[in-house]
Amino acid sequence: MNFKVRIASVDRTIDVPTGATILETALDAGISYPFGCQSGNCGACKSHLVRGEVTMEGYSEFALSDEEKGRGLILACRAVPWDDCEVAWLEEDDLIVHPRRVLDCRVVGLDDATHDIKRVRLAIESGGPFDFSAGQFASVTFDGCPPRDYSMANVPGDPTLEFHVRRTAGGATSRHVAEKLSLGDSVRVEGPFGASYLRETHRGPIIAVAGGSGLAPIKAIVERALQKSLPQHIYCYFGVRTERDLYLHDHFSALAASHKNLHFIPVLSEGDGMSRRCGLVHEAVAADFDEVDGCKAYLAGPPVMVEAATRLFEQRGMRRSDIHADAFYTAAEMAAANRKTGAER
Ligand SMILES: Cc1cc2nc3c(=O)[nH]c(=O)nc-3n(C[C@H](O)[C@H](O)[C@H](O)COP(=O)(O)OP(=O)(O)OC[C@H]3O[C@@H](n4cnc5c(N)ncnc54)[C@H](O)[C@@H]3O)c2cc1C
Ligand code: FES
Repeated sequence: MNFKVRIASVDRTIDVPTGATILETALDAGISYPFGCQSGNCGACKSHLVRGEVTMEGYSEFALSDEEKGRGLILACRAVPWDDCEVAWLEEDDLIVHPRRVLDCRVVGLDDATHDIKRVRLAIESGGPFDFSAGQFASVTFDGCPPRDYSMANVPGDPTLEFHVRRTAGGATSRHVAEKLSLGDSVRVEGPFGASYLRETHRGPIIAVAGGSGLAPIKAIVERALQKSLPQHIYCYFGVRTERDLYLHDHFSALAASHKNLHFIPVLSEGDGMSRRCGLVHEAVAADFDEVDGCKAYLAGPPVMVEAATRLFEQRGMRRSDIHADAFYTAAEMAAANRKTGAER
């Protein structure tokens, strides 16, 4: 049995088979529906349920809050219709949907950013052009490894793609990158995905908060904002554990020296308090900002940091639509979150 689902954003009606999600059926029908993780964790496919009824499979509270659910919002990647429906994806003034590509790439650069983060540069050999917005991520498959999500650290249009891969204890792909990846290896990149990208028409202050390898998408966002000569102040907080976890410090310091509107603030959670700011990075932001009116926040890195910073901005009165976040959940964490929320509903 099929249900008719009208997608108002493109004025198309699709037949969604029983048990299928709206997003997967829409993508199969060639509709450029905005999406990211396809697992209920990023919020990129958030949509209005205009009419009809759906069952929501498990998703994270981070992707769709109870308040948003109460307002009739759904995640198309988790929404299984059990009635004819009408949906519309969230209309943002600057919603951008890039064509999804599958690229064959080759490793042309590989160096240690820190003791546990590799900086990987890839040349695109076929499948391009690869258009994306600064801050988006891709699904990257290194030879013999399961695909994993990594954020582009370069600005769109660069001839090579740059990724920062932090080694995760017990992790399959990041271990391969740390120990085995070599120059010349082939890599498959699929994307772009994600909705946490720089809103280039916004003119209020930008508060960017990175934790560890979360600096990758934040680097792309900051560099893109400077490249586009955005006039507003950009506050870039970089939270790491100790001095040896800091990277690209000289690069950001040089950018800040040459751009008066950029402020680069490293914060060490286990620092000695002598030379740098110490504490948790979201606490540093909290100490600096009473007011976040008109600001946009871009957050990337460990889920615990992203969630703490999201809570902080919400407490300060920032609208959820002004908080753009990528929490670096592992595949196992995503599956666990899905099981948890699925069981509760
Ligand atoms: C949108 C997004 C963007 C991201 N961008 C980046 C980025 O730019 N840079 C970056 O470094 N990372 C990024 N990540 C994280 C990245 O995708 C990977 O999750 C990370 O590199 C770990 O992958 P892995 O294969 O090494 O580890 P995995 O093999 O996935 O293992 C991760 C952890 O889970 C444990 N584990 C594995 N299987 C199970 C199981 N069945 N049950 C319980 N525990 C299990 C492992 O022991 C390990 O501790 C991003 C994630 C997301 C969602
Ligand atoms: S694509 Fe639906 S929540 Fe990420």
